[in-house]
Amino acid sequence: MPNPASFIQAALMERFGERLQIDAGLPGLDELARIAMHRVHRRYLARNVAPELLRLLCACALSAPSKSDLQQADILIIRENAKRYAIADLLPEMPWLRDAPVFLVFLANGRRLPEVSRMRGKPFPNDHLDLFFNATVDAALVMATFMRAAEAVGLGCCPISVIRDHAKVISEMLELPAKIIPVAGMCLGWPAEQGGITPRLSLDTTVHQERFTEGDLVTKIDIYDRRRAATRPYRNQREPERFGRIEFYGWSEDKARQYAVPLRADFGAFVRAKGFNLD
Ligand SMILES: Cc1cc2nc3c(=O)[nH]c(=O)nc-3n(C[C@H](O)[C@H](O)[C@H](O)COP(=O)(O)O)c2cc1C
Repeated sequence: MPNPASFIQAALMERFGERLQIDAGLPGLDELARIAMHRVHRRYLARNVAPELLRLLCACALSAPSKSDLQQADILIIRENAKRYAIADLLPEMPWLRDAPVFLVFLANGRRLPEVSRMRGKPFPNDHLDLFFNATVDAALVMATFMRAAEAVGLGCCPISVIRDHAKVISEMLELPAKIIPVAGMCLGWPAEQGGITPRLSLDTTVHQERFTEGDLVTKIDIYDRRRAATRPYRNQREPERFGRIEFYGWSEDKARQYAVPLRADFGAFVRAKGFNLD
């Protein structure tokens, strides 16, 4: 990249509406530029991802840090059309699942550690919420690191948490044993279009100095809604028959409407049924 600092600055301006100071002599600016320019991809070329490349990306992803070196995250690779299409059929509102040549599932594995304790003839008095939480955090870190690796080689990804709308069915389909939970799926392929940067809440909203300060959240959200609408306006309004059509429809209205219906209220029951103790 010829002048990474200027790419980073432009991307972060678009993302946060803030011009950040960047020392052009900093090492690692190419990597920061890739991170700053992240975007998910939902359209893919009809081109396969070589198995050895996928293995390399998995190895890089699983190089992510792991809580207490417990290594409680796994990656399930799904390439077979029949399996991918069966998952895609459950989620027709997301046609990118069908188009992506590879579908991955990032798993929280709360099974291996108690197994290791059993192998070593030790008690395991840690079957409580922390087991689920640690494994989920590890899986999320592996997923994020996988995206970094995939984007570095020019691949496009889209995490897919809606597989958890059908957690039980998908878990059975993938033959996941007890204490193995799908944290998120991921579409992977060569991008068919560049895609755009999604603005985020301002750094004043999400970065706190020395102590947590919420400040004037109403104003912060309003400013964000308007900044975001300038580059990424919503094309559709959710549930207009229930909430009406409004002239200015921003991020906060969309998220409030999205969460005005119960979503995955049965997920806790699913996780418990898979053998996790959430107390
Ligand atoms: C854990 C997680 C789950 C997600 N699930 C979905 C999903 O089910 N379907 C989808 O189309 N995008 C999904 N996404 C992608 C987000 O919608 C996307 O990251 C967000 O809109 C911001 O866009 P950006 O990543 O390009 O900045 C998910 C992202 C994450 C991190």
